[in-house]
Amino acid sequence: MTHVPRARASFALSPQERRGVYRAIYGRRDVRAQFLSDPVPDRVLARLLRAAHHAPSVGFMQPWNFIVIRDRAARAAVREAFVRERDRAAQLYEEPRRSQFLELKLEGILEAPLNLCVTCDPERGGPHVLGRSAVRETDIYSTACAVQNLWLAARAEGVGVGWVSIVQPAELRAILGIPEPVLPLAYLCLGYVSEFKDTPDLARAGWRQRLPLGDLVFGDRWGAPDLRVRATLERAER
Ligand SMILES: Cc1cc2nc3c(=O)[nH]c(=O)nc-3n(C[C@H](O)[C@H](O)[C@H](O)COP(=O)(O)O)c2cc1C
Repeated sequence: MTHVPRARASFALSPQERRGVYRAIYGRRDVRAQFLSDPVPDRVLARLLRAAHHAPSVGFMQPWNFIVIRDRAARAAVREAFVRERDRAAQLYEEPRRSQFLELKLEGILEAPLNLCVTCDPERGGPHVLGRSAVRETDIYSTACAVQNLWLAARAEGVGVGWVSIVQPAELRAILGIPEPVLPLAYLCLGYVSEFKDTPDLARAGWRQRLPLGDLVFGDRWGAPDLRVRATLERAER
């Protein structure tokens, strides 16, 4: 029998729990097209928000707020802002990419029963937050961690989440009454879904494929492949 160090034996999750964590990670999708109109119960939403609130944050500043948007008029206004920005973004592509871009389903603002705006207050915790001296944007990174916690918890609950970033922040600010200097960091659509696809929509649409992980891992210096990791990845299933 192989020797299992005590620390590993005592702190690791059970194999079944671990499978659950990885299932949520690999089975999480950005959902746009598969939303059902069934309401998300308040207690489920509360669990998702609590998961987000337990994210790591620089200096424990917890820079986030969560605006739960049920109002249809507000959502319709966000959807109009999305259409304006999508049409502007389309001009950045040449044909045939432009038409392909315009055919993609890139939001579920009105189909999802709930929308959620996650904001980031760069001033929370005062002018000298522990850990922000060299990298000021760590407040934004922290808020992104909260979004990811919510996204994974939602997958565990069977709730789909779609991130809509194709909206001008100034428009979101105006619609939702977000004051300066608070940033509207993530605009999310949430709801139960008809299915979670196995692969990202953009991969299935032929827009872009997942990169080989082995090519992205370097050893000791930028650009030097880590052959041990690469060989292990090639042997492992995932
Ligand atoms: C910061 C961020 C912004 C995103 N914005 C959009 C968006 O505006 N519209 C969209 O359809 N998907 C958006 N996505 C989803 C990505 O396209 C998606 O995560 C990626 O294609 C991988 O698919 P998966 O999340 O299903 O694995 C965004 C994702 C992130 C992390």
